[in-house]
Formats: sequence, structure tokens, C-alpha cells
Amino acid sequence: MYLQRRNRILRQSSAIRSLVAETQLTPNDFIVPLFIIEGEDDSSEIASMPNYYRRSVDLTVKEVKELWQMGLKSVLLFVKSRDELKDNKGTEALNPNGLMQRSIKAIKDAVPEMLVMTDVALDPFSSFGHDGIVENGEIVNDATVEVLAKMSVSHAEAGADFVAPSDMMDGRIGAIRKALEESNYTKTGIMAYSAKYASCFYGPFRDALDSAPGFGDKKTYQMDYANRIEAVKEAQMDVEEGADIVMVKPALSYLDIIREVKTSVNVPVSCYNISGEYAMIKAAAKMGWIDEDKAILETLTSMKRAGADLIATYFAKDAVRLIS
Ligand code: PBG
Repeated sequence: MYLQRRNRILRQSSAIRSLVAETQLTPNDFIVPLFIIEGEDDSSEIASMPNYYRRSVDLTVKEVKELWQMGLKSVLLFVKSRDELKDNKGTEALNPNGLMQRSIKAIKDAVPEMLVMTDVALDPFSSFGHDGIVENGEIVNDATVEVLAKMSVSHAEAGADFVAPSDMMDGRIGAIRKALEESNYTKTGIMAYSAKYASCFYGPFRDALDSAPGFGDKKTYQMDYANRIEAVKEAQMDVEEGADIVMVKPALSYLDIIREVKTSVNVPVSCYNISGEYAMIKAAAKMGWIDEDKAILETLTSMKRAGADLIATYFAKDAVRLIS
């Protein structure tokens, strides 16, 4: 048979495949989410996230040192607030001595070069488990944005390099940028969860922080998964309002959104390989139905191929081990 082109020529050995591979994962691609609890020398495995842990501040610092040595350069902090500290206004989120603020300081003291990003939303501090203030059964926008701006300044004051608002209130990026500027935090970045969808795959995360909404769902602020164009609008508005990095979340069911956003904005795009995506791979691997390591590499590569410059993932350490 005569063929002018034989596409398999470029696939015939691992050497040629690696030469022509369009996408390569490196440790520079990853953001490592960390769950932090009160206490000392304490850690507990998250039931729906096997081999992923909540850790006290001291053990978190130990982990961060290890991450830095592995070549990982950024962490994204989430704290599990005590129930008695929760209220409707997220008061504890602004405590200069709160768990988040203490964690930021401890990490920056121990590993100054590690980029510390912090979650900005009220849910871990809310007695209702919602990302904003609740009035008459509604999550109110403008009053919430005021708290989020103060929370961001508080994180910057503690030493955060980036604040990462994950709440999906309108106008929060502009308000946060203004608050940071007015407080003279001119080096603090904003990674905006711009296109964050109301997803069933957040379940294990809400177990980790005990932050499931006490009533209703998050559909009046997080996006409808039926929509694509709306994600572009959200990302473009966040860039105009001052976001340095925009994020698409979740990742795996939203690869088309990552690509769409990537071609529509001129800032780096991140995606969040979320807790339910982690849990699915862990569960199927445990059953012996898929190869865990291969599934990790294939899914993370698909996110980068889709256009993600950065990937927040619970598999960061596994990925670094697998690619080195
Ligand atoms: C809440 C927040 C959530 C996640 C990150 N920040 C959950 C939610 O919106 O209910 C989910 C992350 C994950 O599932 O891994 N502000």
C-alpha cells in the first residue's frame, strides 16, 4: 500500500513520542490545596479523600517544607473553623489571630519563598455553611462583598501572596483590589475563581471542612453547568476588575470552559481539580478498576492541554513523583 502520509511514524517509540508531545506536566504547574485545623501535632485523614489529611499548623509547616523540597511552589490554604466560632457574618474570618492568619504567618516564616494563596469566602466561618451573609433565606451580595474585601486585607496583612476569592459574589474582585490598594498592599495578587460552577463534585471538600450548606444549595451564586458563554463574561469582568489569574472550577467536566476562557483573556488561567474528581479516581483505583497513577497523569495532562496554565490539585505530590 502506498501512503503519502503515515501518522504512526510519530508514535512508534517512546523516544519519538516524547519529542513531539505537545503538553508536558512540570512541578511549576501545580497549586497544592491544604486543609488546616486547630491543635498541635494533629492530623486526620479525610474519609472521602483517602490519603489526604487535615493538619494542625505545625504539621502543615512540616508538609510545606517537604512540598518546597519537591519543587512545588504554591499552596492554597483552607481552614476548618470551630463550630462555636461560626456566625452569619463570618466574624472569625477577620480575626487577626484566626487560624488562617496564624497559618499564613507560620508558613511564610518557615518557607518564605513558598507562594501562599488563601481561600476567601465565608462558608468555613458561616453558621449557615454559605459563602455569603444570609438574610431572609437569601445570600446577600453587597454586604458579603464588604466582608470579603476586609478578609482579603487581613490575609495580606498576615503575609499572603495571593488571595483567592471562591465565593462568586458580584463585584468582589473590584472591591478586593480597591481595598488592597487603599491599604497599600500593592504586591498582593488576586486569583479569582471566575467560573465556579454549582457542582455535585464538591462533596468530599465539604466533608473535609464540615462546611456543607445548612439549607438549600449554592445555585444563586455559583454558575449553572449548562452555560459556557457566561464563563467568558465572568472571567473577562474579573480581569477588568483587577484579577491577576482567573480560575475555572471544577476541571474535569469543564475542559471546554478552560479552553474557552483561555482564548478569551490575556491573564494566566488556572483550574481546580476538585475533591470529587480526586475521590472518583481513588475509589475506582481501590476497586482495581483503573490504574491510579495513569489516571492521575492522563487527567492532569488533559487539563493542561485544555489550556490551564496552573492546576490546583490534591494529586500534586503524586504527579511530581510520577513525572520525575
Ligand atoms: C467554598 C469552596 C468550595 C471548594 C473550594 N472553596 C466548595 C463549595 O463551593 O461548596 C471546593 C473544592 C473542592 O471540592 O475540592 N468557598
